[in-house]
Amino acid sequence: MVKLNSLFWGPFFFICFIEFVSLRADAAVKKYQFDIQVKNVSRLCHAKPIVTVNGMFPGPTIYVREGDRVLVNVTNYAQYNMSIHWHGLKQFRNGWADGPAYITQCPIKTGHSYTYDFNVTGQRGTLWWHAHVFWLRATVYGAIVIMPKQGTPYPFPRPNSEFNLLFGEWWNTDVEEVVKQGNKLGLPPKMSDAHTINGKPGPLFPCSEKHTFAIQVEQGKTYLLRIINAALNDELFFAIAGHNMTVVEIDAVYTKPFTTQAILIAPGQTTNVLIQANQVPGRYFMASRPFMDAPLSIDNKTATAILQYKGIPSSVVPTLPHLPAANDTAFALSYNSKLRSLNSPKFPANVPLKVDRHLFYTIGLGINPCPTCQNGTQLTASLNNISFVMPQTGLLQAHYFKLKGVFRTDFPDRPPTPFNYTGAPLTANLKTSLGTRLSKIAFNSTVELVLQDTNLLTVESHPFHLHGYNFFVVGTGIGNFDPKKDPAKYNLVDPPERNTVGVPTGGWTAIRFRADNPGVWFMHCHLELHTSWGLKTAFVVENGQGSDQSILPPPKDLPPC
Ligand SMILES: *[C@@H]1O[C@H](CO)[C@@H](O)[C@H](O)[C@H]1NC(C)=O
Ligand SMILES: *[C@@H]1O[C@H](CO)[C@@H](O)[C@H](O)[C@H]1NC(C)=O
Ligand SMILES: *[C@@H]1O[C@H](CO)[C@@H](O)[C@H](O)[C@H]1NC(C)=O
Ligand SMILES: *[C@@H]1O[C@H](CO)[C@@H](O)[C@H](O)[C@H]1NC(C)=O
Ligand SMILES: *[C@@H]1O[C@H](CO)[C@@H](O)[C@H](O)[C@H]1NC(C)=O
Ligand SMILES: *[C@@H]1O[C@H](CO)[C@@H](O)[C@H](O)[C@H]1NC(C)=O
Ligand SMILES: *[C@@H]1O[C@H](CO)[C@@H](O)[C@H](O)[C@H]1NC(C)=O
Ligand SMILES: *[C@@H]1O[C@H](CO)[C@@H](O)[C@H](O)[C@H]1NC(C)=O
Ligand SMILES: *[C@@H]1O[C@H](CO)[C@@H](O)[C@H](O)[C@H]1NC(C)=O
Ligand SMILES: *[C@@H]1O[C@H](CO)[C@@H](O)[C@H](O)[C@H]1NC(C)=O
Ligand SMILES: *[C@@H]1O[C@H](CO)[C@@H](O)[C@H](O)[C@H]1NC(C)=O
Repeated sequence: MVKLNSLFWGPFFFICFIEFVSLRADAAVKKYQFDIQVKNVSRLCHAKPIVTVNGMFPGPTIYVREGDRVLVNVTNYAQYNMSIHWHGLKQFRNGWADGPAYITQCPIKTGHSYTYDFNVTGQRGTLWWHAHVFWLRATVYGAIVIMPKQGTPYPFPRPNSEFNLLFGEWWNTDVEEVVKQGNKLGLPPKMSDAHTINGKPGPLFPCSEKHTFAIQVEQGKTYLLRIINAALNDELFFAIAGHNMTVVEIDAVYTKPFTTQAILIAPGQTTNVLIQANQVPGRYFMASRPFMDAPLSIDNKTATAILQYKGIPSSVVPTLPHLPAANDTAFALSYNSKLRSLNSPKFPANVPLKVDRHLFYTIGLGINPCPTCQNGTQLTASLNNISFVMPQTGLLQAHYFKLKGVFRTDFPDRPPTPFNYTGAPLTANLKTSLGTRLSKIAFNSTVELVLQDTNLLTVESHPFHLHGYNFFVVGTGIGNFDPKKDPAKYNLVDPPERNTVGVPTGGWTAIRFRADNPGVWFMHCHLELHTSWGLKTAFVVENGQGSDQSILPPPKDLPPC
């Protein structure tokens, strides 16, 4: 059993969550109330109203145990449409609770409520939740901590205590306005003004004396850090001065432990590390900073928090850790290559060995005409040259109720015109085609998807997230994927299993999964900038024959459009 950290969300934990009499042996029903409220919050000498859950920034942590049923009643008191995604939860047959607006539900309108009702089955570890409509996740996010079943220990030494670290981004002005401004120009919106750790930027930013997050540790003890990258647009390095970290879990899947001086974490990903408070008692900075190895303007802002040994006065000046350089591709590739599934008898890696369906999707940036934009053009992004157009109604409803004309199922398995994907930059004819096109997948078939970055406009690293599933990252490489040579180098034994993976700059990543969860499942780049530019699509996974192999009926309170 792990002690829940009471330093943090303790008071909230006791007020807002009620454990009900269990239905199954050790499972319980956990109920939460999420009030979407606007609250005036101050950072970097600026105060502004932001959208929050229950007035908290970041929002409350959801604590559950594997096997629990969770009911979250989301009531929207803000002026924006809202929907919440439970990032990484598989939502078996239950896309109704997945959350992305206009994909699995219509948004919860101002003054309305919707109860997300889901079971946490076959997963344990750290995940997170966030708004999944426009850019509202900038301030609407929080952690999900799934404890293992009662009596089931971690497959690593039991920590004495644990802390959640959520990385985010902060804008001094209204994020929705910043985005509108960018769209008007057809260009990226203004970069964030700060990076944050648990909503606080730390002392390297102005006016941050009161806005530094700190944890207190005791000499000789071991701590579990549950690290979540909730930033909108940046992959991040993270390190702690004087202390190494042992990675034990990613995206709520146990890994073979390895020790490192820094981690790399993409937006959407989670990483659990163990740290030992075994250094000279003092104050040490924990720091995060973007990783960016594409020829684009670099955001070099460093967010800091403090690791403080018990008994050390706050007047002691902390030291900064060594972080890899922003363009340290070698570190990024080496770090990712160390990630391996635990693949123990209890936690096997069931990698599909035979592939029923081979998919090859190119990732491209582009420029499309835009009569309403200042410049007459707008930057865009595409998969297989298709920039996804958001529908007006939920795709899952359209699929379930067989509504015609909402989407097509002719998303191509391969790019329409093959080219030298990662050769010299291509800057002529950057137009993309537009459409709400999905790919239909047979129930329980095995899928291999190769995501190939391209030189259209510029190469860049893209963290891809698939809803409704975990997948195995069986291979990755720089340059063009070679279907003759590269599969021979796949790891089909203990590849990392996760829900979000970074496709390297000018490279490719191959993932495999078994399509055993019927529904409509969103897949997108988790850089919010690229999601909004159309770097997204969805899979329509058909129902199976069995009685427990079809989409559940929609809940009665599902928001209408
Ligand atoms: C937010 O706080 C600032 C500083 O305290 C104040 O000037 C501003 O009027 C407040 N805004 C709202 C909407 O309450
Ligand atoms: C959700 O919360 C709202 C606001 O408190 C309440 O009116 C509604 O009845 C709740 N829904 C459920 C299912 O409890
Ligand atoms: C959750 O589990 C309970 C108990 O097994 C079951 O009755 C319920 O239908 C499940 N809900 C969903 C959304 O799968
Ligand atoms: C951290 O790991 C590095 C490389 O393995 C090693 O040189 C260093 O001594 C370790 N530091 C601590 C504090 O354990
Ligand atoms: C970060 O970037 C800014 C602007 O490009 C530059 O002025 C500054 O020196 C950089 N800081 C560091 C620590 O590299
Ligand atoms: C990384 O950036 C540094 C400083 O901007 C530069 O000196 C170095 O050449 C770059 N390294 C690579 C591999 O691009
Ligand atoms: C206008 O668009 C062109 C490409 O179509 C680009 O080169 C240029 O930088 C843009 N200018 C502005 C001000 O957006
Ligand atoms: C693709 O472009 C690269 C870089 O320009 C070049 O080295 C390579 O030979 C090209 N590949 C093919 C198949 O043309
Ligand atoms: C993408 O589609 C547009 C519009 O049909 C076309 O002009 C362009 O050549 C295509 N680009 C690629 C790389 O296939
Ligand atoms: C899916 O296919 C695998 C391999 O054929 C089989 O073992 C498994 O029982 C199937 N699962 C379902 C839910 O049909
Ligand atoms: C909120 O969602 C509804 C339903 O999809 C839509 O009609 C309305 O325009 C949306 N409002 C805003 C402000 O986006």
